[in-house]
Amino acid sequence: MLNPLRQLVQVSNWVNERMQLQSSIGPIMSHRVPLRARWFYVFGSATLTCFLMQILTGVMLAMVYVPSAGEAYQSLEHLNYVQPLGWYIRALHNFFGNAMVFMLICHLLQVVIFAAYKYPRELTWVFGVVLFICVLAMAFTGQVLRWDQDAYWGLGIGASMAGRVPLIGPYLVHLMLGGPIIGGETLSRFFALHVFILPLTIAGTIFVHVMLVLKNGISDPPIAGTIVNPKTEREDYEKRISGDEGTTFFPTPIARDAIFSGGLVIVVALLAAILGPAGPNGIPDPTIIDTSPKPDIWFMSVFSSLALLPPAIETFLILTAPIVLVLALFAVPFMSNSGERHISKRPVAALTLIFIIMVYVVLTVLGYQSPWSPKMQAWSSDETPVQYIEGRTPLELAGAVTFQYKQCRNCHELGGIGGQRGPELDTIATRMTTPQLIRQAVQGGGNMPTYGHNLSADELSAVVAFLSTLHPIDEPQAQTADKSLNPAD
Ligand code: HEC
Repeated sequence: MLNPLRQLVQVSNWVNERMQLQSSIGPIMSHRVPLRARWFYVFGSATLTCFLMQILTGVMLAMVYVPSAGEAYQSLEHLNYVQPLGWYIRALHNFFGNAMVFMLICHLLQVVIFAAYKYPRELTWVFGVVLFICVLAMAFTGQVLRWDQDAYWGLGIGASMAGRVPLIGPYLVHLMLGGPIIGGETLSRFFALHVFILPLTIAGTIFVHVMLVLKNGISDPPIAGTIVNPKTEREDYEKRISGDEGTTFFPTPIARDAIFSGGLVIVVALLAAILGPAGPNGIPDPTIIDTSPKPDIWFMSVFSSLALLPPAIETFLILTAPIVLVLALFAVPFMSNSGERHISKRPVAALTLIFIIMVYVVLTVLGYQSPWSPKMQAWSSDETPVQYIEGRTPLELAGAVTFQYKQCRNCHELGGIGGQRGPELDTIATRMTTPQLIRQAVQGGGNMPTYGHNLSADELSAVVAFLSTLHPIDEPQAQTADKSLNPAD
């Protein structure tokens, strides 16, 4: 008679014989870890669990999401309201993403507090920092894929930071946005980053990081007075954990990892079900300047520092601070890779850590309160050159005001003052006929946003009337051949 159990064993033997699973997984299960490494050591595997959940939910989302500027927003609404359980997958992806950053920060803090980066684990730390940067980049690019108001302004702020780099700034912005403005190409670019480039980099780096963890072992919880000496540390460590200060990874330590990760999955899944998906909150629209956009929580501190920095040192700090911070993070194990590990014997490290956490938390809280006004009013309070409003009709004057408060000046100079993303408009009437002006204001195009639904008919005729006056006295406005389209003189 057929014995199912025996069949199963035979199949698994057949597979194992070919894949040699036992010889690769076996040593991982039986490798020895410090006995006292208990619940503080579960954050790394919890981060990995979140990553796996992100792959699972991310692939599901990618089956419905359309990475095109015209359809991304609608596809998210489709997920939220039409696709069965689409909202829940979106919520899971959002919550596991945030949980991943949070677990990674816990892992990082544990490693810093225990000084686990000291010899021989310097490279384990370096690859961990690469992971940290990649995961933050995932959080940022993910926020962009939401393609809503916050995404749009987040990108705008990112681009304006990149644009400050001397000499190559404009090229960097072009590279980042896939063109001179935030548009369809930008979304494709961030989609490729979020879905292919970053996850593959993360997976590869996790492989190396975990391999190093297995090769060098995990650090034992520090005891004050015990010193790391690179000359003898490896031998001492082997001696400690092979005796009664060590245990095999299977079953107890791995069970601890599994219990914590399992609990985390349950909590996050519940939170996602209760709180639902994030956004999307409002179709991105460069012509709505009356918004107060907010980045996701992890970038809130950047947002507040930008708002609070005095303009004089802004550019300098924006350009140097990220580089200094990243280099400092990489440099940690090289500044001190031996000696005391217990936090009570490392006062400088302890104070630095407390300082960094305090600054980060305070800036984040300030970001949510935003006691400043982040509204975009760059040039709207600069006056219009007086010769452009002298002796004008009421309609033309109304147009000058509309031009001002619809933020046209953010991109267009008048009298040498204003943004420079579009051409200066001082003599625009010599280049464009009235119908062309109407078309341009309504449709935008060539990198100018479409103002159609954002200008009422009255505002439109006013702003066009104003623009039509912008020509030198001795040079009349451009005319179309079709006289019926020209305004009556
Ligand atoms: C986000 C930046 C931006 C804003 C805001 C903006 N424009 Fe433009 N505008 C441009 C760009 C870029 C061009 C050049 C388009 C091209 O390459 O064809 C342009 C072109 C124009 C032109 C044609 C200029 C020429 O020399 O061909 C007119 C007229 C114009 N804009 C009017 C307006 C008005 C009116 C507003 C406000 C309602 C406005 N723009 C707001 C970016 C902007």
